[in-house]
Amino acid sequence: MTDRLKGKGIIVIGAGSGIGAATVRRLASEGARVCVADINDAGARAVADEVSAGGGDAFPVHIDLADEASVQGAVSAAVARLGGLDGAHINAADLGAIMADSDALSVELAVFDRTIQINLRGHLLCTRAVLPHLLARGGGAIVYTTSGACDSAEPVRPAYATSKSGLNALMRHVAARWGREGITSNCVAPGFTLTPEMEASGNLPPALLEQMLAQIPGSRLGRPEDIAGVVAMLLSEDGRWINGQVYHVNGGALMR
Ligand SMILES: NC(=O)c1ccc[n+]([C@@H]2O[C@H](COP(=O)([O-])OP(=O)(O)OC[C@H]3O[C@@H](n4cnc5c(N)ncnc54)[C@H](O)[C@@H]3O)[C@@H](O)[C@H]2O)c1
Repeated sequence: MTDRLKGKGIIVIGAGSGIGAATVRRLASEGARVCVADINDAGARAVADEVSAGGGDAFPVHIDLADEASVQGAVSAAVARLGGLDGAHINAADLGAIMADSDALSVELAVFDRTIQINLRGHLLCTRAVLPHLLARGGGAIVYTTSGACDSAEPVRPAYATSKSGLNALMRHVAARWGREGITSNCVAPGFTLTPEMEASGNLPPALLEQMLAQIPGSRLGRPEDIAGVVAMLLSEDGRWINGQVYHVNGGALMR
């Protein structure tokens, strides 16, 4: 592993499990000091403790993307501890209602509204909280987690895909508006990614996993570490000439 993130202060929002947790581990392993922000306090603490026990630098902070004061407070706490901010991975999503995200005719408006509230409005709140600190440093990088669902025209999950497509637009706006001031803004768009929490839930029938694998021109499913590596690159100096892009990371399941 390199030390290309040595000395950088980075907040990962939605870091208590899955892809965000893998990103924290990866960033810390490359030398970053990482704020582990999540609504799931136990998850965030466990990830931070694991990284710290391995010699890395990570600490947990509570954040709720539904609440502007919570978002501002979490970022302020991160900045106070890190002494500034060089990057942000804004990764949180409320996936609790995704099974009820049926189709445009039948999806309950409460499901649609909650999905937009967290996955899109919440990301605007995070953007507003982190950007002034990145600008104060003379520049920095934001990586949002969107989804291949934006481009794969699914017959289900309209709220989810709409929220993530909106996020792609927000990302491009940030790149266009603040690029000249040293900000890079990009999205990573995972395909189906098997997280440890999904595996532990026991909610994934083998037939579904086989179906997912059959969609990939490769020999395995995606893992959180596959996404984390791309996020780390985009947050590092290697990503400084990349701005306004959506990076699909899916083993070739969706080719564009
Ligand atoms: N795993 C996949 O197959 C896949 C595919 C495409 C995109 N994604 C995206 O990747 C990201 C991470 O997903 P994951 O699979 O690791 O799932 P995950 O549920 O493990 O991660 C989501 C995190 O967001 C947090 N969160 C939820 N609501 C929040 C709130 N109100 N405030 C703060 N934090 C909140 C959760 O506690 C959790 O830690 C999400 O944006 C998801 O949409 C995942």
